[in-house]
Amino acid sequence: MTLTVLFCVDPLHPRRVDPHYSREAAAVRDHYGEIALVDHEALRRGDAAAAVRAVPGDLGAAWYRGWMLTAEEYAALASALKARGTVLLTHPEDYRRAHELPGWHDTFAGLTPHSVWQPLAPRQEPQDLSELVRPLNGGPGIVKDYVKSRKHEWDEACFVPDVKNLSQLRTVASKMVALQDDFLAGGLVVREYEPYDGEGESRVWWVDGEPALVGPHPDSPDIEPEPELDAVAPAVRALGCRFITTDLARRSDGEWRVVEVGDGQVSDLPGTVDPMDLYAHLPVPD
Ligand SMILES: Nc1ncnc2c1ncn2[C@@H]1O[C@H](COP(=O)(O)OP(=O)(O)O)[C@@H](O)[C@H]1O
Ligand SMILES: [Mg+2]
Repeated sequence: MTLTVLFCVDPLHPRRVDPHYSREAAAVRDHYGEIALVDHEALRRGDAAAAVRAVPGDLGAAWYRGWMLTAEEYAALASALKARGTVLLTHPEDYRRAHELPGWHDTFAGLTPHSVWQPLAPRQEPQDLSELVRPLNGGPGIVKDYVKSRKHEWDEACFVPDVKNLSQLRTVASKMVALQDDFLAGGLVVREYEPYDGEGESRVWWVDGEPALVGPHPDSPDIEPEPELDAVAPAVRALGCRFITTDLARRSDGEWRVVEVGDGQVSDLPGTVDPMDLYAHLPVPD
């Protein structure tokens, strides 16, 4: 069978792939696969039926590659596609498990900074912070939502000098929630801070539990660290998702650490990587 990939449509040109993904779509098309277009803006406004209108019927099993979706939007995409005879190769439950920190954190215990979390609606003030951070060691921490941080607003909305200083934690967490606004994913996460060597992260793409591509992180596309994967691989397999990424950083003591896990369908592939190095490893359905 063929490799089929659903890419996001270019909002300005309804028959073209979004320019951010055109290199990847060309790689799929040129070499062996089939592509179809889904409308990310329609998914975001809750109209999954409209989002899949351009997908031909009975396309078979397919991967999605595009902008991030909430777990709810991904589930809506999966059911709208199913109604047209197309099955997403990553199940909505697997998408949520890889995409949101509470889904993968415990499976990566010991390999990733210890973290706690609480569900919050967009713009909701964080609650009971003293209880929330009780399991954490005192000292520096970082806050983020279940998916993204405000790393570009590090001092005001990401880094907390001492997580046990509750007024300090509340100020930074509230700022993060306010800045995420409507886009707050899931809730608040508080993580113990650990020092990394500052040499850039490695993004490892895993397909069916095997490292398909070890590449740079999009924030440092020209740096290609060579992480040690022996400790990470069993956790990836235990998570049980078919296509994920792990972002690895080297701690100052030399240990490779998992900074975050992501669903491979929505992780960004840096422009310095040849898309074929990834797509050649994506399994076609049996
Ligand atoms: N627990 C931590 N200790 C030290 N630095 C961290 C920690 N968590 C995140 N960072 C730093 O903040 C950056 C952004 O965090 P990350 O969890 O990757 O969020 P995002 O999804 O926004 O990329 C990371 O690349 C890393 O440099
Ligand atoms: Mg990151």
